[in-house]
Amino acid sequence: MNAPLQGHTASNLHAAVATGALLHVDNVSLEYRTPQRVVRATHEVSFEIDPADRFVLLGPSGCGKSTLLKAVAGFIAPTQGEIRLQGKAVHGPGPDRIVVFQEFDQLPPWKTVKENVMFPLLASRTLKRAEAEQRALHYLDKVGLTGFADAYPHTLSGGMKARVAIARALAMQPKILLMDEPFAALDALTRRKMQEELLRLWEEVRFTLLFVTHSIEEALVVGNRILLLSPHPGRVRAEIHSHQYDLQSLGGAGFQASAQRIHRLLFDEEQGAEPAQALDFSDIRIAY
Ligand SMILES: Nc1ncnc2c1ncn2[C@@H]1O[C@H](COP(=O)(O)OP(=O)(O)OP(=O)(O)O)[C@@H](O)[C@H]1O
Ligand SMILES: [Mg+2]
Repeated sequence: MNAPLQGHTASNLHAAVATGALLHVDNVSLEYRTPQRVVRATHEVSFEIDPADRFVLLGPSGCGKSTLLKAVAGFIAPTQGEIRLQGKAVHGPGPDRIVVFQEFDQLPPWKTVKENVMFPLLASRTLKRAEAEQRALHYLDKVGLTGFADAYPHTLSGGMKARVAIARALAMQPKILLMDEPFAALDALTRRKMQEELLRLWEEVRFTLLFVTHSIEEALVVGNRILLLSPHPGRVRAEIHSHQYDLQSLGGAGFQASAQRIHRLLFDEEQGAEPAQALDFSDIRIAY
């Protein structure tokens, strides 16, 4: 791999962990143990997420993105390192971290859209029924589904189900919203529309987002910061600040150059890399 850019070395990545971020992932290794063997999914991964970040985990299939997300959600415990939310170690799932998965058929079909959004609020005893209903209607309005509050999930399109899942997650008002390839099952046009809507929602609500994708383009559009992970087992390869891009940037020269640079970083083809400024990144930190 090429030399780190001045002032941004791997040790900086670790030093950053000591700051007052919302979420700290500190030197985290994650493993799956089966009776036959131990699979190391990620190796000594560190990053931090600040409030209102749209932080993207990007890397090839099998590099441990979903595993990292599950660890942040509290479903998997690190074998090494620590995850802290507002300074408190994560030891299990909680309503302060809500996950939106790729499959929207997780919406119980016997509940209406509104009941689906209300369900976690009631099940976690966050709100009483009347308040939960109000909150559900508020977030359904934010995702443009007011007219479908009493519809059943099977009558909705894939994009609409995605919006219900997002409304349901946001209604819990988590400290961090976790999304694992949430638009991967949608057709290309709907996927783009959902990216646009997610950014619009973020402008309005300013939630903190941890978003997993293996699409470089999606990472550049959705994220303000992107963590690049190496192939299996996932290690931090670089962190990139990408807040200057949105859907309008698609196809632009700067956007394409950045996408190519990320591709080279991901697949370890960085030879004689050009300075980051020339490639439209405001900041890049490279780790070994
Ligand atoms: N339940 C499991 N038991 C054993 N190994 C697992 C399990 N789940 C995932 N793994 C392994 O852990 C590694 C990381 O998997 P993970 O699903 O986190 O990758 P990913 O980056 O999300 O990939 P994709 O982009 O395909 O979703 C892979 O090698 C995978 O085979
Ligand atoms: Mg995955």
